[in-house]
Amino acid sequence: MNSITLQARCERVTTETTGVKVFALRAQGAHAEFLHSLEPGKHVALHYPNTAGTQHQRLYSITRKQGADLFEIAVKREGRGGVSDHLHATLQEGSIVPMQFVAGEISLASIVGCQQVGMLAGGIGITLPIALLRGLLERSRRGLSVPRVALLLCVPTIAEIPFLHELLELELTTSWFALQVFVTRETVKSNGHFTSGRPGAEDLSFLGMPEAVVICGSHRFAQGLREHTLAMFPASKLLIESFTPPAAAVATEQSDAQAPGSVRLHLTDSDQIIEVPAGKSLLDMLESNGIAVRSLCRAGICGNCRIKVSDGEYTLEPDFCLSDQDKDEGYALACCTFPQSGAVKVGLNPPA
Ligand code: FES
Repeated sequence: MNSITLQARCERVTTETTGVKVFALRAQGAHAEFLHSLEPGKHVALHYPNTAGTQHQRLYSITRKQGADLFEIAVKREGRGGVSDHLHATLQEGSIVPMQFVAGEISLASIVGCQQVGMLAGGIGITLPIALLRGLLERSRRGLSVPRVALLLCVPTIAEIPFLHELLELELTTSWFALQVFVTRETVKSNGHFTSGRPGAEDLSFLGMPEAVVICGSHRFAQGLREHTLAMFPASKLLIESFTPPAAAVATEQSDAQAPGSVRLHLTDSDQIIEVPAGKSLLDMLESNGIAVRSLCRAGICGNCRIKVSDGEYTLEPDFCLSDQDKDEGYALACCTFPQSGAVKVGLNPPA
């Protein structure tokens, strides 16, 4: 991970769908190593306020790179007042955005050696597959071998499918790419590409016998399809990316059902006790009290926010990296831990 703070200048804004804009950003004053790390499929951390003016760091997949310092990201308007909403509404040509680092394990190199690759994308999670598919298309145009790729994409409505034209064109003009779209919130006439509803475990047969499966979407989407994929393709390599924290889904579910009470957090390393309203992830609680926690994905994938937790009442959302033994020993991820009530003991620096 490259952790310097740089700036990017917005060079171009393109409307991809009514809710999604593509921003072309030019890294300014960056050294060669940083520019090299701006690779399609990896993600760049931007520092930007939400609509209430609070600064946050958020990650965006690099969907395309043009030249040494110009790259694109796609940002979806979520309607929750978050950083993406504010970026979507305010970033325009000439705007400057602080960039913190580039990270990510998934890039073209992760899949080019495979014969068959499956991709499962939910909504704006298409940004990682589109980056990889563009790279594969470029390779195939140069006469290099590419894997067969089957992409299963889930979107609420047809109008909300980013890069649809490009995906359909890719399927029609290549022999190695197949597309299947599940439309979850409107009825569509089923044909070769489009089906109404959500994909079930049996629909993963569309992926063939993949050596690698790329899963990208919300935390809930990635968690559900990871389980199906593990069951159906136990030998496949899983490449998972999610930038949607589990907090959003939990907060929505709980908002009507329970008014948030308060929780006492006992930070065992410093013997500090803080009282915070319940209803947020432990990571959010700590950060909003000025307590720095190492974090990256905020979605239970990277493992950076590993802590120890005990006592009080808390729930653990499913994550993608802790083993059962880790959990039995009290390890948890701050981004996937939701203190509910009582005095919750938190060890911020557990042994590795
Ligand atoms: S921030 Fe990545 S697992 Fe919590």
